[in-house]
Amino acid sequence: MYFNKKYNIFLGVLVINIFEAIESRRTILEYRPDKVDRNILETLFNYAAWAPNHHMKQPWKIKVYEDEARGTFGEKVVDSYFRLGLIKTTETKKIEQLRKGYHKFFNSVPHHILFFMEKEDDGGYLDDENYAAVCAYVQNFQLSAWAKGIGTMWTSKPTLLDPTFIKDVGLSPEQHRLIAVLQVGYPKKIPNGRQRTEMSNYIEWINQEEIK
Ligand SMILES: Cc1cc2nc3c(=O)[nH]c(=O)nc-3n(C[C@H](O)[C@H](O)[C@H](O)COP(=O)(O)O)c2cc1C
Repeated sequence: MYFNKKYNIFLGVLVINIFEAIESRRTILEYRPDKVDRNILETLFNYAAWAPNHHMKQPWKIKVYEDEARGTFGEKVVDSYFRLGLIKTTETKKIEQLRKGYHKFFNSVPHHILFFMEKEDDGGYLDDENYAAVCAYVQNFQLSAWAKGIGTMWTSKPTLLDPTFIKDVGLSPEQHRLIAVLQVGYPKKIPNGRQRTEMSNYIEWINQEEIK
């Protein structure tokens, strides 16, 4: 298995490009209208599943919104923004304009992908572990997509905790935890990278003497 041709190529591509993929990936705001082929998305979902996960629970669950479903999904997201007070205006005209703008945005992105998990211990440690594993899955998906020229935008708002929104997407607030939404498609424009802070500012190296 380790030396099979397909696996070598897979490893070769990832090993050679992993640092570049990590550094060059950007959050994509504008997308070309063409959909990503379903076979390609399925391949990316399978790569992402190599993410670490405790006890091999593979807690990631996924809903993909495409075509007409994008508009409906977008409406539910915006309903939640209003419900949660994330949009302040009460002027009918402004609300109409905002809704139109969001409708345009949601339909301009080929795929909206919702990542969620089943709750096990009502927000306890096991849920934290599974949440962390799904986040690792999402980043694996982002990097694998980027390696194939596909852009993503990770969005997460208080909407993901809104019980009405959770029901709107056909899930149960008692049973499910929503984790992330990724916008996915071929980039129309790639923004410049935003410089990261030199990591020496955040690291404390502890040696044996100091932990006595
Ligand atoms: C948990 C999480 C939530 C995010 N939510 C949003 C969001 O709601 N809107 C947005 O434009 N970007 C969002 N982002 C993307 C960040 O804005 C982006 O990663 C950051 O600006 C750095 O840009 P880069 O990804 O191109 O390096 C989110 C990222 C993460 C990890």
